[in-house]
Amino acid sequence: MLRLGVMVSGGGTNLQAIIDKIESGYLEGCKIVTVVASRPGAYALERAARYDIPAVCISKKSFASADGYDQALLEHFNSCNVDLVVLAGFLSMLGENFVKVYQNRIINIHPSLIPSFCGKGFYGIIPHQKALEHGVKVTGATVHFVDFEYDTGPIILQKAVQVLDDDTPESLQRRVMEQAEWELLPKAIKLYSEGRISIDGRKVTIK
Ligand code: GAR
Repeated sequence: MLRLGVMVSGGGTNLQAIIDKIESGYLEGCKIVTVVASRPGAYALERAARYDIPAVCISKKSFASADGYDQALLEHFNSCNVDLVVLAGFLSMLGENFVKVYQNRIINIHPSLIPSFCGKGFYGIIPHQKALEHGVKVTGATVHFVDFEYDTGPIILQKAVQVLDDDTPESLQRRVMEQAEWELLPKAIKLYSEGRISIDGRKVTIK
């Protein structure tokens, strides 16, 4: 059984996609053992409660130092025996210490085709606003391993999504979620749980 720790900040539709795929049997070898929210009002917490999934809020703001926050996260994930940390719309930066301990065991979903529209400040609706401003015809989503910078870790999966002439940031965000994110993140978890992902430097190979 692969024990998942899912980190969230907002609405939690990606968390919901993982829950749905566990319920449907697609992710039969996986269990969400903890949901960690970065802020108390995150709707994702309500989704977790609905399925009796243990959930907590660990907010950076309530710690005097970044190290203290890191340590609290580490203790929590270690106590839950988490195998894979899944950032499902988690909009905070993880500290070096945490990333070192869970190296190659943290994955993130990002709403663009990395290396476009990513990095510090590109989160939530913003990558879609920037994609429309730039006039790209195709965007998408990326699942990647997390390293010490924003959105720079080895890429596991990507899926392209068409941009339409009359798109707004909101309509584009919705299409990227529906056509890419909700499929890609569970798929990456499944591949990981089946031991089918290997990493060599920056290069990820799916067996
Ligand atoms: C998703 O679009 C996710 O890709 C994005 O935030 C949204 C969260 O939605 N993540 C990032 O921007 C990370 N840089 P959700 O809470 O409904 O899953």
